[in-house]
Amino acid sequence: MRRRLLVLLISTPLLPSLAATSLSRNDDPGGIIRIRRDADRLAPLVKSELSRGFLEATTQLPTVAPRTLYQDPVRKVFLTESAAEKLDPSAFAGLKKVSADETLYYNTKYGSPLAYVLPLEQLALAGFKGWEGRKVLDFGYGGVGPLRLMATLGADAVGVDVDPLLPALYSAPSDQGVIETAPGARGRVTLIDGRFPFDPTTKANVGQGYDLILSKNTLKRGYVHPDRPTDKRRLIDLGVDDATFVSTLYSALKPGGRVLIYNLCPAPSSSDKPFIPAADGRSPFDRSVWEAAGFRVLAFDKDDSTAARALARALEWDRGEGAMDPEKDLFALFTLVEKPAAS
Ligand SMILES: C[S@@+](CC[C@H](N)C(=O)[O-])C[C@H]1O[C@@H](n2cnc3c(N)ncnc32)[C@H](O)[C@@H]1O
Repeated sequence: MRRRLLVLLISTPLLPSLAATSLSRNDDPGGIIRIRRDADRLAPLVKSELSRGFLEATTQLPTVAPRTLYQDPVRKVFLTESAAEKLDPSAFAGLKKVSADETLYYNTKYGSPLAYVLPLEQLALAGFKGWEGRKVLDFGYGGVGPLRLMATLGADAVGVDVDPLLPALYSAPSDQGVIETAPGARGRVTLIDGRFPFDPTTKANVGQGYDLILSKNTLKRGYVHPDRPTDKRRLIDLGVDDATFVSTLYSALKPGGRVLIYNLCPAPSSSDKPFIPAADGRSPFDRSVWEAAGFRVLAFDKDDSTAARALARALEWDRGEGAMDPEKDLFALFTLVEKPAAS
């Protein structure tokens, strides 16, 4: 089952449907037990206090009781159990039951939330020191785990995404809002459903005043501007041109705020094989577009594959059924830009 998660992690931004039992795993403890075990394995690899704190915060992740969701395969939406039960019997009969356990809650379709230590290491190197009082946006967050960990450390952590699974999966009052942490830190998780910045309501809900905008495995050139013709369902349509998207990020940041795009990628295919959008992890936006918006480019399409491969081995992506060979199958690129402090 780990293979399925890994394939999803690096190969597709969108999953059309979930089978009722498709994401439960038999070969590991799953849920937060697995996340804490992975945190112990990653601890010797990380160099920054920022990442160490993130890993240690896994001890404060709450357990989550299994939830039942329903998928409407025709409308491609997910319903909570209570919403589904309000439907008339004929509508209810057309729904597919989805069991959401703690593993799905924290890993969703993309695997360990702890892979976020890779971008955190780069942020730390660039001088980002801690989460307390920081406002952070994760564009294409895909799962609450990383946001919850940042909020546990005092961040005002906001995620925006278009996946219809997420609002149903995170519909309990305890999934969002203030996260009380000891001693005295007080973070917050806010999850926003919609296309940012294309949809004006979503844009208003995301708002401004961010210290950091992070996007992992979402803003890839292969998804946004594929080099070869590709099925649109495998791509990401931002709904606005590059200059508009980048200048919206600029406006959303405080002076001195940063944008980090961090992408894990499989190996590209040869020209005689179908194009793999996920394999092109370069910035979708040219350096000149970032600069024209006012950003200072601190790193552009910089390679971080060595660190990614070490993480892959620690998380055992190279073991078991369908294991990858990190040396051949895993690459990482990141782009880091800064809004000048004086602007
Ligand atoms: C490959 S996943 C990455 C999830 C998470 N950031 C991670 O690294 O595990 C890509 C995410 O981008 C989201 N996405 C796709 N198009 C989007 C859009 N236009 N706006 C926001 N999110 C989008 C998908 O729903 C999905 O959750």
